[in-house]
Amino acid sequence: MSTPPSSERRGKSPRETQVEMVELVLPNDANTMGNVLGGRVLHWIDLAAAIVAHRHSRTEAVTASMDEVSFLGPIRVGQLAVIAARMTYVGRSSMEIRVDVQSEDLLSGERRQTSTAYLTFVAVDKAGQPTDVPPLLCETEEEKREARAAEARRAKRLRSRGLETPGEIPQR
Ligand SMILES: CC(C)(COP(=O)(O)OP(=O)(O)OC[C@H]1O[C@@H](n2cnc3c(N)ncnc32)[C@H](O)[C@@H]1OP(=O)(O)O)[C@@H](O)C(=O)NCCC(=O)NCCS
Repeated sequence: MSTPPSSERRGKSPRETQVEMVELVLPNDANTMGNVLGGRVLHWIDLAAAIVAHRHSRTEAVTASMDEVSFLGPIRVGQLAVIAARMTYVGRSSMEIRVDVQSEDLLSGERRQTSTAYLTFVAVDKAGQPTDVPPLLCETEEEKREARAAEARRAKRLRSRGLETPGEIPQR
């Protein structure tokens, strides 16, 4: 007999849905200085986060917001962009995903952090209405710390939309 998906049993851990994507920066991705375009990096960030959201919810999911993103250093043509995304917090229908971007030099192997972004995706049904998602099961101390920090970010986002923070969703 096959095992039911973990979401049907109890929820999902960040480990079960995390994503690492690698892109080779080509001239078509770059500005006239040979550095990757910011918009291209934002696209990769959105894609990686979307995959995490879909793996967690197994529903349609849309980008609701992306918090401020900085580009701390360039990624040059011929280098790799390594995009790592993982679930940090789950509400009723919303999911916060952290995406880290690093440059990797193919010859030296040196990696540098270039961006960190937090995105909120909302799981939606066929009519595009928000729908509940399985809870997040934090397994490590770092995941628990990240989930607590996410609650503060969520409250800030709600305030910026003129909304009160609803009751906390316990992260397990
Ligand atoms: C995201 C969307 C489905 C939310 O619909 P809504 O009717 O405003 O939803 P609600 O107010 O009932 O909120 C539902 C959840 O989304 C969250 N949410 C809504 N807008 C948000 C925003 N701008 N940022 C972060 N979270 C948001 C709420 O906090 C709530 O979370 P919870 O269920 O975990 O408590 C709707 O705004 C939408 O379809 N937006 C367009 C999405 C899209 O097309 N994205 C692609 C890029 S344009």
